[in-house]
Amino acid sequence: MKLLLLFVVLPVALCVDPEVLIQDTRPPTKRTPGGVNQIVINKSEDAYLTCVVHNKDADTKVEWRYWSPKFSFTISTGQDSKDPFHYQVDQPSAISWRLKIQNVEVWANARYFCQVLIGDKKYAKDERTLRVVDPPKILDLLTDSDMTIEEGTLFSLRCNATGEPFPKVKWERLAGGLLPSGGAEHADFTMNMGVATPSHRGAYKCTAENEAGKDTRIVAVRIVFKPRVEQRHRVVSQAVGYRTDLECTAAGYPIPEESQFIWTKLGKPVTGGNYKVIYIQGASDRVFTKLTIYNVQLSDYGLYSCMASNIKGDSTPAQIELKQSNSPTPDSTGQIRSGAGVLSVSLTTIFTLLLVCLLQRM
Ligand SMILES: *[C@@H]1O[C@H](CO)[C@@H](O)[C@H](O)[C@H]1NC(C)=O
Ligand SMILES: *[C@@H]1O[C@H](CO)[C@@H](O)[C@H](O)[C@H]1NC(C)=O
Repeated sequence: MKLLLLFVVLPVALCVDPEVLIQDTRPPTKRTPGGVNQIVINKSEDAYLTCVVHNKDADTKVEWRYWSPKFSFTISTGQDSKDPFHYQVDQPSAISWRLKIQNVEVWANARYFCQVLIGDKKYAKDERTLRVVDPPKILDLLTDSDMTIEEGTLFSLRCNATGEPFPKVKWERLAGGLLPSGGAEHADFTMNMGVATPSHRGAYKCTAENEAGKDTRIVAVRIVFKPRVEQRHRVVSQAVGYRTDLECTAAGYPIPEESQFIWTKLGKPVTGGNYKVIYIQGASDRVFTKLTIYNVQLSDYGLYSCMASNIKGDSTPAQIELKQSNSPTPDSTGQIRSGAGVLSVSLTTIFTLLLVCLLQRM
């Protein structure tokens, strides 16, 4: 019986070529659309490729080989690595040879062959292609941080990153909207902004992206500019004895302070007990101001102007004409308020709410 086995099995074992299969890899192998068995791995990690060999002749050794268009070499023979710093081989079982590629970098990008010599320069083999990727990282040194720019100066925004493959870099406005180039996206490291105008103020986002991931950076841009003032209505009508409001908004940076806001009538500052000025700061470098005339008299009719200033200079005045009307004109809340009348608490509340609304819409 034993003799029979020997006669049957031995010749078969002798004639059958070894079978070489890379059976297990970490990270796992994925087949590309082009039919390549590929292992994609993040930089600085370790890759493991386990090769299983059946029907191996006892004398022959299992080899791991490195192949790239630039050079190729034998990594190991059996468990003996030629470059233990980068490559190690162990044998988890009698028929498997596991290659560990340590702390991968771009040098590890190659085809890896597990092979066994079967004849005159002929090998039974299997292979995997290793591709090292590195998620993008935006570089502080080559990327702008928040900036304050004087109106009228040329400026640009810069962003650069590392990554493997080298990432694509693009700029967008954080809140959406168009870039100076006219589009919503600018696909380059540097974005020329042209001559700084107030419309450039806001937040910009740089994104660096490759197949391994992405990194983003927000850059806030402030523009130092002379205030611009705008009236809510050019003409306001009210009858004698009633109350009226004249309203202006101003945009500027640094934001004009309360003391830098001036209401004038015929070139003279408006003052006195019959008037009240309020000042409220809104979003986006804006302020709101309102001149209330409590009890309109004939002498109050005429041309008013509001003006704001900051370190960059004075705004062009915005003019409002107060005209006499025969019947009282309601205010923006629909109320008619006589100069003598006392405001109820609820009305004040409504008015405050309205103001808040107004500011949020600016
Ligand atoms: C590679 O790194 C990225 C980002 O750090 C991560 O999301 C991804 O899961 C990693 N991939 C692998 C295969 O570890
Ligand atoms: C961005 O970085 C890459 C790699 O460091 C470099 O080759 C390239 O010149 C840089 N580009 C700019 C605009 O700084």
